[in-house]
Amino acid sequence: MTTPIYPARLTAYRHCAHSRLSTSLPMTDEILLTGRVLSFDASPFDVPAQSAARLHEAVLIRNGRIAAVGDLAGLADRAPRAQRVDHGKAVICAGFIDAHAHYPQTGIIASWGKRLIDWLETYTFPEEGRFGDPAYAAGVAERYLDLTLSHGTTTIASFCTVHSASVEALFAAAQRRGQRVAAGKTCMDRNAPPGLRDTAQSAYDESRALIARWHGAGRLSYAITPRFAPTSTPEQLEALGALWQEHPDCLMQTHLSEQGEEIAWVKSLYPAARDYLDVYEAHGLLGRRGLFGHAIHLEPRERARLAEVGAALIHCPTSNTFIGSGLFEIGRRVAEGQRLGLATDTGGGSSFSMLRTMAATYEIGQLTGTALHPAQLMWLATAGSASALHMGDCIGNVAPGLDADLVVLDLASTPAIAQRSARAETLWEALFPTIMMGDDRAVREVRIAGRPVRSAIS
Ligand code: GUN
Ligand code: ZN
Repeated sequence: MTTPIYPARLTAYRHCAHSRLSTSLPMTDEILLTGRVLSFDASPFDVPAQSAARLHEAVLIRNGRIAAVGDLAGLADRAPRAQRVDHGKAVICAGFIDAHAHYPQTGIIASWGKRLIDWLETYTFPEEGRFGDPAYAAGVAERYLDLTLSHGTTTIASFCTVHSASVEALFAAAQRRGQRVAAGKTCMDRNAPPGLRDTAQSAYDESRALIARWHGAGRLSYAITPRFAPTSTPEQLEALGALWQEHPDCLMQTHLSEQGEEIAWVKSLYPAARDYLDVYEAHGLLGRRGLFGHAIHLEPRERARLAEVGAALIHCPTSNTFIGSGLFEIGRRVAEGQRLGLATDTGGGSSFSMLRTMAATYEIGQLTGTALHPAQLMWLATAGSASALHMGDCIGNVAPGLDADLVVLDLASTPAIAQRSARAETLWEALFPTIMMGDDRAVREVRIAGRPVRSAIS
């Protein structure tokens, strides 16, 4: 029987308009997964958190998409020949969506002891310099996708490096896996080592060529990617703003107001700007499909403008603590009506795991006066990030019409977690220890477009 955590009707999603599932994928026919299937009817920030979600007994997958969710008897009647996979008491939910990552920083994750600017110069830039080599880029792209998949992440928005080869490598690896990825060439034409610098013109030309080649190819989409204001001249920001205007269905991803020193630097480089956000806006780089990583230390005008435009603030909690950037005040941002996504920010972030990211979100919420409900954490890592990436009509929930990108979570994956979840009286009480203490051992199965994936690492 379907257990309504609350009585609202499950939304029937319109057919995924964003892009088609690749027809080169072997189609899965019909699969009936049973377990504790978790879906959202509404945002748990808009309605009482517990009442935003619903539990079902089963999910029916047909040709890579979710055909139905509901009680087992009803779905078994509907699809008597479906392959059955029983996950018992495990939770089946939407695959996690990491709305801001740097796949080229995989190899330097957890590098000790620096503030943002010298962390970039000491660890990040030397590593990113290696991605002009297509073979190196391909190797890291595969490793990165293996690692994220083994942690239950099925969709990523990633920065690449200045080299087009780094974008090619990530998109090609994702395409082979049938995986949804948004990514872009990271543009920098100043304040970076010579080997990592492009120009205003080459950033425009190369990004444009990559858009033509990859944007909308299967499940791939392009994100125009100025790294952040300090590493771009006004001319480069202008060129990328023009490119976005020519391709308004692309995402635009960058960084905003992460650390005090960075904000002061932006002020000195762009003295005429009203604030950091104004630098982007003045160059055509503020819009609804804009993704602003970190966005911790915002002025009132910036907050009002971001909410007005409907751009997304991407919360990167493990990075914000690891690099010492500050505490993102999620309760206040929610109250302002900001669009929010959640992200690891690998490798400034100290994890590949969206479970760990949810735990850090909870902890920072506590430090800033907001105790987030587990439903809110799960929503942020799935439907919230999907909405930030404007992919909510394809992914981020377990609902008819969406892609069957799913993760199965074992709520007793370690002795420490098992002994706590064993005494739980509600789903949320059972799930919360996995959110707070879980890692890739909690990820029992991952499906992309209905197909189970096995990463090389797990
Ligand atoms: N700001 C500009 N580039 C970066 C980066 O690679 N990581 C983080 N955390 N912040 C940045
Ligand atoms: Zn970042």
